[in-house]
Amino acid sequence: MDLFGATVAPIVAFFLFGELAILAALLLAFVLARRHRGSTHHYLTLAAFAADVLVFKPLMLSRASSAWGNFPWEGTRILPHLEISVSAALLGAFAILLGFKHRVKKGPRMFLPPKGRLHKRVGLLFIVVYAIALAVGLVIFFETYFK
Ligand code: HEM
Repeated sequence: MDLFGATVAPIVAFFLFGELAILAALLLAFVLARRHRGSTHHYLTLAAFAADVLVFKPLMLSRASSAWGNFPWEGTRILPHLEISVSAALLGAFAILLGFKHRVKKGPRMFLPPKGRLHKRVGLLFIVVYAIALAVGLVIFFETYFK
């Protein structure tokens, strides 16, 4: 298919727009947390994280093997991309654990007491590392199709 003037496999467009949508969902979830909408924040982060690690990342790993050859893809940026993505996934899982550990529910509302500070820091770090992994992915995309 045609994407910004380049011919790409449809799965590549799915990755590109899907990962951008996940970043948008994480940023929206961050804004919701800032506005103390803890319950909606937690549903949105869980959905975004699950879509990323259960759908996008397995498909990307499979695509890396079929399109770029065998691990560790020497001479490409795929290995750093994978390493940063794994770090992001671990940070995300840790943030979720901390969220469940420290959250306080009052009826339909959800709060974090002061001891939940670590959740906020790890969660923010996860969003930053996720964005870096995505940026490396975009560099690979532009180097591959627009050199
Ligand atoms: C990867 C997933 C998650 C990320 C990246 C994340 C990130 C964050 C961040 C950055 C904040 C602080 C926002 C601020 O500066 O005020 C925050 C707050 C919060 N998070 Fe999460 N979070 C995640 C998942 C969860 C989950 C699963 C829960 C609940 C089980 C949760 C519950 C909360 C609550 C209750 C707050 C406080 C909202 C308030 O100030 O009232 N988060 N989160």
